[in-house]
Amino acid sequence: MVKKDITDRAEELRQQINYHNYRYHVLNSPVISDYEFDVLLRELQALENEHPEIITPDSPTQRVGGQPAERFERVPHPAPILSLANAYDADEVRAWFERITKLDDRVARTDFSVEPKLDGLTVVLHYEDGIFTMGSTRGDGEYGEDITSNLKTVRSLPLRIPISESDIEVPRRLVVRGEAIILRNAFEEMNKRLEQAGERTYVNPRNAASGALRQLDSRLTAARPISLLCYAIIEGEDSQPSRQSEIIEYLKKMGFPVPEETHQCEDLERAISVGDEIARRRDKLPYEADGVVIKINDLELAADLGFVGKDPRGAIAYKFPAEVVTTVLQDIGVNVGRTGVITPYAILEPVEVGGVTVSQATLHNFDFIEEKDIRIGDRVLLKRAGEVIPYVIGPVVEARKGDEQPYTLPQRCPSCGEPLEQLAGEVAVYCVNATCPAQLVRNVEHFASRGAMDIEGLGIRIARQLVEAGLISDVADLYQLTEDDLLTLEGFAEKKADNLLQAIATTRERSLSRLINALGIRGVGVTVAAELARRFQNMEALQAATQEELEGIEGIGPNIAAAIVDWMGQLSNRELIKKLQSAGVWPTEGEGIRVAPGIFSGMTFVLTGKLPSLTRGEAKALIEQHGGRVSGSVSRRTSYVVAGESAGSKLDRALAFGVPVLNETSLLSLIERKET
Ligand code: IVH
Repeated sequence: MVKKDITDRAEELRQQINYHNYRYHVLNSPVISDYEFDVLLRELQALENEHPEIITPDSPTQRVGGQPAERFERVPHPAPILSLANAYDADEVRAWFERITKLDDRVARTDFSVEPKLDGLTVVLHYEDGIFTMGSTRGDGEYGEDITSNLKTVRSLPLRIPISESDIEVPRRLVVRGEAIILRNAFEEMNKRLEQAGERTYVNPRNAASGALRQLDSRLTAARPISLLCYAIIEGEDSQPSRQSEIIEYLKKMGFPVPEETHQCEDLERAISVGDEIARRRDKLPYEADGVVIKINDLELAADLGFVGKDPRGAIAYKFPAEVVTTVLQDIGVNVGRTGVITPYAILEPVEVGGVTVSQATLHNFDFIEEKDIRIGDRVLLKRAGEVIPYVIGPVVEARKGDEQPYTLPQRCPSCGEPLEQLAGEVAVYCVNATCPAQLVRNVEHFASRGAMDIEGLGIRIARQLVEAGLISDVADLYQLTEDDLLTLEGFAEKKADNLLQAIATTRERSLSRLINALGIRGVGVTVAAELARRFQNMEALQAATQEELEGIEGIGPNIAAAIVDWMGQLSNRELIKKLQSAGVWPTEGEGIRVAPGIFSGMTFVLTGKLPSLTRGEAKALIEQHGGRVSGSVSRRTSYVVAGESAGSKLDRALAFGVPVLNETSLLSLIERKET
C-alpha cells in the first residue's frame, strides 16, 4: 500500500472500531461479533506497528498504553464544578422550590428534568475539535487531577465525537461532566474473580471505580470494568440546547453514554412522584444511585438563580430513604469457596434494610475484620445497596458495653478440619485439602451452573446432598449416577431422579468452552474459556499448552496462564479429565467455529471498487462457496461491504449505516481464520 492508502485505511478502521465499540459499550447492541471486532483491531494494530507515525490520539489502540505516571497533574476546571444540596424527603424538595420561586417568578412556570443521582466518581472530559484531549477528577471543584490516560481505558468514553454520521456539527471545544461508575453486574463479577484469585474484594462499586481511576498505571485501570454516564455540559457551543432534557439528548446524539432514566416533568409534584417511583425500583437500576437529581429544565433560569456556597440553586438531590441501619453482630461464620478460599460472613440479629429482612452479610475478608476491629456482640452499621449482597460497614464503637469479643482467625477448615494456610502475598486464607467436601460442593455447583455445563435442576442444595451422601467424589462422577443412587436422597422420587439424570446426560454434548469454564480453573471464566476453546479446539491440545503459548493469547496474562498450567499439571486433575473423557464428556469442536462451507451462511456481502488480486467474479465465488450471498446494494442489513480501490457511494453508505467494511486481505483472513 502507498502511504496515503495506509493512512486512509487506518482512519477507516479507527472510525469503524470506535463505532463498534460504541455499539457494544454504549448502546449495548453490537452489530458484529467479538471476533470480527478483533479482526478490525488487529489490522489497525498491524498498520500502526509498521507505521507508528500514523497513530492518532483518538485511535482505539491508544486506550491502554504508556508508562505509569509518577503523579497526577493538577488542572484547573474551565468553570467551577459545583456540588448539590440534598433534600431527604418530599417536603424538603417543596421548601427548595418555594425558596427559589421567591427569588425569580419564572420558577413557578418552569418544568424539570429528573435524573438518577449516580453514585460514582465525577469526571470532567475535554474535547477539542471532537477529539478527547483531557479528562480530570472533580477535585476541590476549582482544580482536579488529570487522569486522561486512565479515562481513555473506559470503553464507553468516546475518543472522538460525533461517533457516527449525524447532523450535529463537531463543537470546537466541549467540556462534559459525567460520572464514572461500575455497573452492578460487572461489580459482582469482578469481585467474584478477585475472590477466586485470592485478592482483596471491593466494598462497593463506587470505591472500586474511584480506586481504579486513581491508579498511576493505566493498565490497572483498564483491568476494571468502568463505565461512564454523562449528564451536563460545562463549556460548549452557543448553539447547544438551552434545556437540560435536550442536553441529555444532544450528548446522546454525539455518542456519549447518558443515563437512560431521565424524565422531563411538567411540574414539581410530578417530579417528586417520578423520584419516588424510581426510589421504589432502585434495586433494579443497573447502577447504584443514592437519589434522583431534580433540575430546573430551563438552563438560563437555572444559571441566573446562582448558587449558595458550592450548591447551585437550580437543582437539588432528592435522596432515597436511608439504606444504612444498625444491628447486632451475633457471630462470625466462615464459608469455603470453590478454590478453597475461606471467607468470613456476619450472622446478624435480623433487621430490615431497603425493604428486605437481612440476617447475614459479607465481611469481605479477615483483614477487614481486623482493620475495623469488628468484635462479636458489636452493634454494626449495615448497608444494602440493591442487589449487591448487604455488607457490614464497621462497628459503632460508642455503643460498646465491654463484653464484645475480639475475633480469632480459624485454624482449621470448618468443613474438613484440615489446617488452613495463607499463601504468600495474598490476603485470603485457604483450605488446601484437594478432597475437602465443601470445596467439592462448590465445584459441583459451578460445574452445573448456567455459564458452565448448565445442568438444569442441579444447584447448591442437590450438590450438597450428593457430596454428603458420598455419591460423588468429583464432577465426573455425576455422569455415573444411577436412579437407585438418587432415590436414596431425601426429596427424590422416581420422576425427579429421572429428570436430573436426563439433564446430566444431555450435557455430554456441551461445547468445549463450556467444559473449560466448568473446570473452575482460577481466573478462567466464560470469556477466557471461549478464547481457549477457539485456540486449542480440543482438551488434549489445551492440556499440552505451555505458559508461553497461553500468555500469547489476548486477555490471558501470566497469572491466568500459570493457573492453567498448574491446574493441568496436577495429577488429580489429569485423572478427572480422563474420567470425563471415558464418561463421554469430550467435545471436539471449538465453540463459535462453524466449518466451511457455511461460515458466511445467512450473511450478505456487497462488493465495491477494484480489489488488488481477486476479480469481482472470484470474490463473489469465494463468498458464495462459504455460504454467503452477494448483493448489489448496501442496506442496514448488509453484513459486510468488501471495498477496493476507487470504491464509491456504496462505501459511504456502509459507513453511514455502520456496516463493517473489509478489504481483500481482511476478507481472506476472515475466511482463513474461520476455517482453522
Ligand atoms: S448535576 C450543577 N446530575 O452528585 C449540577 N450530579 O452530590 C450539579 N451526580 O458531585 C451536578 N448524578 O457529581 C448532577 N444526574 C446527575 C448526577 C450528579 C450524580 C453527582 C455529582 C455531584 C454529586 C452531588
